[in-house]
Amino acid sequence: MANTLHGKDFLKEIDFTPAQWEYLIALTRELKMARQAGIEEQRLRGKNIALLFEKTSTRTRCAFEVAAHNQGAHTTVLTADASQFGHKESTADSARVLAGMFDGIEFRGTRQSTVETLAEHSKVPVWNGLTDDWHPTQSLCDMFTMSEASEMPGSEISFAYLGDARFNMGNSLLVGGALAGADVRVISPAELLPDPTVIAHAQRIAAETGAKLTLTEDLAAVEGCDFLHTDIWVSMGEPDEIWAERISLLKPYQVNAGLMRATGKSNVKFMHCLPSFHNRETAIGEKIFQKFGLGELEVTDEVFESEASIVFTQAENRMHSIKSILVATLA
Ligand code: CP
Ligand code: NVA
Repeated sequence: MANTLHGKDFLKEIDFTPAQWEYLIALTRELKMARQAGIEEQRLRGKNIALLFEKTSTRTRCAFEVAAHNQGAHTTVLTADASQFGHKESTADSARVLAGMFDGIEFRGTRQSTVETLAEHSKVPVWNGLTDDWHPTQSLCDMFTMSEASEMPGSEISFAYLGDARFNMGNSLLVGGALAGADVRVISPAELLPDPTVIAHAQRIAAETGAKLTLTEDLAAVEGCDFLHTDIWVSMGEPDEIWAERISLLKPYQVNAGLMRATGKSNVKFMHCLPSFHNRETAIGEKIFQKFGLGELEVTDEVFESEASIVFTQAENRMHSIKSILVATLA
């Protein structure tokens, strides 16, 4: 497979061809195997990478840093509170400044338009580490993780995403799954289904790849799924006041043992981009329990901690898949 991504940005799934998506999944596999075998070749020696974080992160930041360091590159992290970005210098000016010093720029923040503006004004690749609309490094990881766990190509995988589907993870898994030719089921209350323009993009891609797309409110659509995905019910940047409404909308969509059984697949796997509120061991989880009496939200602790849960392999795979993006666009 030829790499057609050199020098390109990584902003959202709808920018890619199915062949480019497949290339990145295959490269992730190759890089993970090389790392595990202790034979990783450093292809990014001497490169400098800027990591801009307007929103907080554990996995994405660590994945970019470790992937870059493994490959011989150097990273500099800039956060909103400790740089001029956003409040004292425009996105276009920051892009030109950073592109003059760095070989690539990652951005995580609220607006998709910010990462698109960075890319427009930067002569080096820009990577989207999450916006409100898209989380493409996560969906690439998730497609790879499902292929790895099932030993099947994306085109033979059935998965469902349950929860708030009109935000980054719903959009990204719908289009990421369409690119891979998968059987994708987005299951959510009607109010929280993806925007019609995102659905139209996914359908256009599915017509090319043979992906099967189902968007429904009906939980029975989990039947036959190999993987169930969910995400937190209130995302970064959303107001606390929205919890009451989200809980009432999404409580029926919680991933629990009954829903796992409803797939009819004895080896169905549970996935979650993380972080997760599956118990009361976080400040927010405890606050929600005190206010609403719910000790586990989008997934029960039983499912999260079960043998079926592959969330920590999925988290590790963020590093291997982000490494593939860095290598494909920069090496
Ligand atoms: N899944 C994910 O993006 O995690 P972080 O918010 O910790 O980066
Ligand atoms: N939807 C979540 C994803 C976190 C990785 C958020 O935006 O907070």
